[in-house]
Amino acid sequence: MEGLFESLPEGYRERLGRPGEYPFTRGIYPRMYLDRLWTMRQYAGFSTAEESNARYRYLLAQGQTGLSVAFDLPTQLGLDPDHPMSVGEVGRVGVSIATLEDMRKLFDGIPLDRVSTSMTINAPAMMLLALYLLVAEEQGVSWDKVSGTVQNDILKEYFARGTYIYPPGPSMRLVTDIFEFCARHVPKWNTISISGYHIREAGATAAQEIAFTLADGKAYVRAALERGLKVDEFAPRLSFFFAAHGDIFEEAAKFRAARRLWARIMREEFGAKDPKSWMLRFHTQTGGSTLTAQEPLNNVVRTAYQALAAVLGGTQSLHTNAYDEALGLPTEKSALLALRTQQILAFESGVTRAVDPLGGSFYVEHLTDQLEKEAERLIQEIDALGGAVAAVEAGYFQRAIEESAWQFQKEVEEGKRIIVGVNRFADPNSPLNEPTPVQRIDPELHERRKRELAEFKAKRDGESVRMGLENLRRAARGSENLFPYVLEAFRRRATLGEVCGVLREEWGEYQPGR
Ligand code: 3HC
Repeated sequence: MEGLFESLPEGYRERLGRPGEYPFTRGIYPRMYLDRLWTMRQYAGFSTAEESNARYRYLLAQGQTGLSVAFDLPTQLGLDPDHPMSVGEVGRVGVSIATLEDMRKLFDGIPLDRVSTSMTINAPAMMLLALYLLVAEEQGVSWDKVSGTVQNDILKEYFARGTYIYPPGPSMRLVTDIFEFCARHVPKWNTISISGYHIREAGATAAQEIAFTLADGKAYVRAALERGLKVDEFAPRLSFFFAAHGDIFEEAAKFRAARRLWARIMREEFGAKDPKSWMLRFHTQTGGSTLTAQEPLNNVVRTAYQALAAVLGGTQSLHTNAYDEALGLPTEKSALLALRTQQILAFESGVTRAVDPLGGSFYVEHLTDQLEKEAERLIQEIDALGGAVAAVEAGYFQRAIEESAWQFQKEVEEGKRIIVGVNRFADPNSPLNEPTPVQRIDPELHERRKRELAEFKAKRDGESVRMGLENLRRAARGSENLFPYVLEAFRRRATLGEVCGVLREEWGEYQPGR
């Protein structure tokens, strides 16, 4: 491929720029996948720490190259399995974690200096990262060797995903406490995964996905600067997370436009000097909302095309959905097929041999320019409202996404937007509609988790726990970084629910619309 770039007409070369060079339209590294493939990072987790650990070890043995933890809703909301609100949700959409013991079991036999782990956790991101660091410490791994990501993107939880706990002010404090603590103690940790995935999945268009995500990113940068951090101190460890939907060229152009826009925002608006601060590094998940319950095996094809779009767009990390996920959690078989989908793309399709292979295409460069322009206009609209936090409180994002979601559904119902097997070529008697086995969760699980929690509490020094929680409460009333106090509370064997509960008592819970 060498020399191809030089063959382009003069003006074209300047317009396009080179991969690995500002504004990174064509990729953040000069040789992209020629030097290193994207990370194959399948989102997984269900039931107990032991069962999830077994799935992680299985996927790693099958060639997965990064871990990605799905937590159940009680964990995501900072509630222990014995909390009344946890009924019916323990271990259902992810793994149930409440204690240091649970976290130790989750990573049993997995060396935390040899694998990078993403954790999809937002409101209690500090707590789960603290537990992860304590397990690394127990394994004898120093924190400067630990790599991974916490999603830690609370803003989109308020308008697109819903697992928030505290009001925006205290939530943003927890977010930037993580930025500061990791900049000093966990230098390889990506402190946030600013997510467009859930915004897109809620119904946003591709341009809105870019704009709303980057607007959230600007809000986090501003919050970190306001707390006194230097932009190049934390910006290199910001990361992003986008969806890959079905329109291959639009999706590839979307990632190229987002990279160029973010590079310009960081260098021109925030004055970042470190090129790593300008680079938009991102994970992609293929579109869960595009999966159909009808003829579920068709989803293997959808996912393959979406994964191709993500790679043509230069993703750093990728999750490919399992074909049965419109019906339930993936089985071992469907999870393996999802991983094989990426491996075939990586090792058989030839797509990794050229850097930004769509670059220079009249169609894709036009789409890239168009998406960038529309996203820029939307970001200016949000800035005029006072930025993303103000836009959340004004209901701007919610209204915009509802409008787009309605438009999409209208096109499906009118047959303008075809979904094969659903509104075109639909056949209830199709052999592809045979019953599909899904991952079952043990109905006894909730009782088992409550017993484990009771046993954990019975073994600890109650007075020591109380002191740890009171120290955290005192710190929450001040302005210190809370990370050390959370670590200390867990060292004293406090549970996730107890730690998050202290902050609920101090800060209250977010009530939409109040
Ligand atoms: N040339 C030179 N160096 C390269 C390279 C290349 N071509 N490719 C990679 N590298 C280097 C990188 O610089 C990095 O070095 P560093 O550690 O010194 O920084 C190293 O190799 C690893 O590369 P990456 O950091 O790019 O790869 P990772 O996979 O470790 O990180 C990421 C990717 C996007 C930055 C990170 O934030 C990540 O892994 N994110 C994943 C987020 C995730 O999985 N989210 C799941 C959410 S599920 C969800 O929310 C949906 C649910 O709600 C339904």
